Amino acid sequence: MMTLDPLPTSETAKADILIVDDTPDNLRVLSAMLTNRGYEVRKALNGQRAIASVKSEPPDLILLDIKMPEMDGYEVCKQLKTNSQTSAVPIIFISALDDALDKVKAFAAGGVDYVTKPFQEAEVMARIEHQIRIQRLQHQLIQQNEDLLRSNRELEQFAYVVSHDLQQPLQSVTGFVKLLQLKYDSTLDAVAQDYLNRIHETGSRMQRLIQDLLAYAQIDKQEEDLQIIDCNDVLKQVTDNLREAIVTQQAIITHDPLPKVKGNETQLIQLFQNLISNGLKFIPANTIPTIHISVSLQRQTWQIGIQDNGIGILPEHLEKIFEVFQRIHSAQKYPGTGIGLATCKKIVERHHGQIWVESKVGTGTTFFLSLPLCLEANQ
Ligand SMILES: Nc1ncnc2c1ncn2[C@@H]1O[C@H](COP(=O)(O)OP(=O)(O)OP(=O)(O)O)[C@@H](O)[C@H]1O
Ligand SMILES: [Mg+2]
Repeated sequence: MMTLDPLPTSETAKADILIVDDTPDNLRVLSAMLTNRGYEVRKALNGQRAIASVKSEPPDLILLDIKMPEMDGYEVCKQLKTNSQTSAVPIIFISALDDALDKVKAFAAGGVDYVTKPFQEAEVMARIEHQIRIQRLQHQLIQQNEDLLRSNRELEQFAYVVSHDLQQPLQSVTGFVKLLQLKYDSTLDAVAQDYLNRIHETGSRMQRLIQDLLAYAQIDKQEEDLQIIDCNDVLKQVTDNLREAIVTQQAIITHDPLPKVKGNETQLIQLFQNLISNGLKFIPANTIPTIHISVSLQRQTWQIGIQDNGIGILPEHLEKIFEVFQRIHSAQKYPGTGIGLATCKKIVERHHGQIWVESKVGTGTTFFLSLPLCLEANQ
């Protein structure tokens, strides 16, 4: 039994319903019922006319008789559903109570519901209103989705343009500070030197922030050019890039054999590099960083864990570290801009995977990545 509240008149007022039935009496009854409720009603006496009417202007809903000469309701429904121009219009089948209604066939043809003749007005109206409500909500959802996508694109474009335009003036600031230091070194006292150093450091930090932000905004701008990438090569490149920190800290990095995945090489390097450099960075004083990269295959998905023996993360911080600019520690203690993990998340999601973290303060942290198994790569 349906217990829907009637749609408010503002919602029903403009809904446009097409009734298709070869019996004029049925058309009249239904039409009167719907017009009384404020619907706009169109009528068609056979399948051909119905299709032409829907094509010329798709209604909000179709009530479609099953038993009609020449083209029956199932056939009309199939034709409408195979045409992209008309496929989105919901169809409710009408069947006589004494006819054997093939419900499975009705749903398989693309119908969303059915009503039986003779019509029970309350039931017919409830079913119609229910479908119209679904239709409206679907439209709303599509619209909101489009709006969201657009505003997301605009925001990214904004971040890109702003960061790009900020780079040059900032370069001038740090450049002139360097010149001042070089040219007037002997005439400046210690306080002035200190001020200049601070300006230079702050400027450089801002430059890094801008570059990281640019890299973050660019991930979605890059073409989805996915190739088969051997993650062992990616790791090799990353350890080369991080060689200085690895050697100075005498870090131990071990790993299981890494898989081949479908991906973008530069982005995969960015991903592993940030995770490993975090493992090297967030480490207690006088501790040798020990990082292990584990690999397992779980239900067609590679699960890669990057485990460190670092300072760990408190449970209340676990969610927010994946957001842009979210850092738990001061930049003085652990340098960085707080964009690394947000970039990692974007990269993993672009590779149709997920990223999550498990951590225990004082013991260490493991970041997990899931990446789809690439059958092509593992032949
Ligand atoms: N392995 C880890 N151990 C402990 N804390 C971590 C670890 N990885 C990340 N964090 C915490 O999460 C925060 C966000 O990490 P993220 O990589 O985004 O930024 P960052 O390393 O500070 O800066 P960036 O990567 O942009 O240079 C870090 O500031 C740190 O507080
Ligand atoms: Mg980082």
